[in-house]
Amino acid sequence: MARHDERDPLSEEDLAQIADLPKVELHLHHEGAAPPAFIRGLAKEKSVNLSGVFRADGTYAFRDFAHFLSVYEAATQVLQSPRDYGRLTTALLEESAANGVIYCETFLSPDFCGGGDLGAWREYLHAIREASYAAERDLGIVSRGIVTCIRHFGPDRSRPVARCAAETAGDWIVGFGMGGDENRAELRDFLYAFDMAREAGLKLTTHAGEWRGPREVRSAIEDLRVARIGHGVRAIEDLALVDLIAETGVVLEVCPGSNVALGVYPDLAAHPVAELRARGIKVTVSTDDPPFFQTTMRQEYVNLASTFQWDADTLREVTRTAAEAAFCDLETRTRILKRLETA
Ligand code: ADE
Ligand code: ZN
Repeated sequence: MARHDERDPLSEEDLAQIADLPKVELHLHHEGAAPPAFIRGLAKEKSVNLSGVFRADGTYAFRDFAHFLSVYEAATQVLQSPRDYGRLTTALLEESAANGVIYCETFLSPDFCGGGDLGAWREYLHAIREASYAAERDLGIVSRGIVTCIRHFGPDRSRPVARCAAETAGDWIVGFGMGGDENRAELRDFLYAFDMAREAGLKLTTHAGEWRGPREVRSAIEDLRVARIGHGVRAIEDLALVDLIAETGVVLEVCPGSNVALGVYPDLAAHPVAELRARGIKVTVSTDDPPFFQTTMRQEYVNLASTFQWDADTLREVTRTAAEAAFCDLETRTRILKRLETA
C-alpha cells in the first residue's frame, strides 16, 4: 500500500482494507459487550423489569459515566446463571469474530458471577470457558479471561475476588485487573488483591488515567506494578510520565470511542492516542463496552485511519503490539502473531 503523508486522506479502498484487517482486542468488559437484544431477550425470559436501561431506539441509555455504571449494573441483573454467561460469551465472541478480531481478552467479575463465592465462580467459569473453546473451534477466535475487581465495590470485596482469580489462574484465566469508578478509593487500597494475583502468576492491568490524572497512572505503575493500563490516556498531561511509560514498556489499552462517548474528550481529533504513540508508548486499541458506545473494532480502526491518517501498516503495527502484550501463554501468543504475519 502506498504511504500517505500527514495531509493525504486515505481512499475508500484504503479504509475498506483497514476495516478488514485482523485485530487483537485487550480491553473488553464481558457484560459491557452484551448486545442490547441479547439482554432484552433474557429480561423477557426471566420477567426482569429493565425500565430506564434502554432508549426508545433500543440502544443503552446513559447520561454520563456514573449513570453508565449504574445502567451497566442494571442490565447485568438479567445474567443470573453460568448458562446465561455461557450464552453471553457466545454472543460477544460472534460479534468480535465478525469484526475481524482473532484474539481477545475479556474482563470477568466474580462479583457478578456468583457474588465472590469461589465454588459458584468455578461453575460460571466452566460455562464461559466451554463457550470460548467452542467459538475458537467454530469461528477461529481465541479468547482468554482477566478477573477484575470493581473499584467502587471497595477494597474489602477485592480480596475474595483476588482469591477467585488466584485459585483459577491458568491457561484460560491469565490476568487480574480492576474496573469501576476511578474516583472512588485509592489504587494502593487494592495492593493486597493485586499482590495475591501476582503471586498466583497472573499478569496485571488496571483502569487508571481515564477520569483521574497522571498521578493515578504513576500509582498504577509504581504501587500496583501493572504491565498494562486500561485507558491511561490522561498520562499525556505529564510528559515526564509519558517518558516513564515509554521507557518501562507499560502498555496502554486505549479505547478512543469509549473516551469520546463518555465525554473524556469532545471528539476523536482531540484524543491523545496519536501523540501517546508518537512519543514512544506501546499503544493498543480496544472498544471497552462496544454496544454502549455504539462502536466496534472495525469502526475504531476506520475512525483512527480517517482522523489521524493511520494507514494499514500503522494499524498492523498497533495490532502486533497488542498481540505481544497479550497475557496468554507464549505458545498461544506465538500462534496469534503468526496468524497476523501471514494474514
Ligand atoms: N466498566 C465498564 N466500562 C468501564 C470504564 N470505561 N471505566 C471503568 N469501568 C468500566
Ligand atoms: Zn474498561
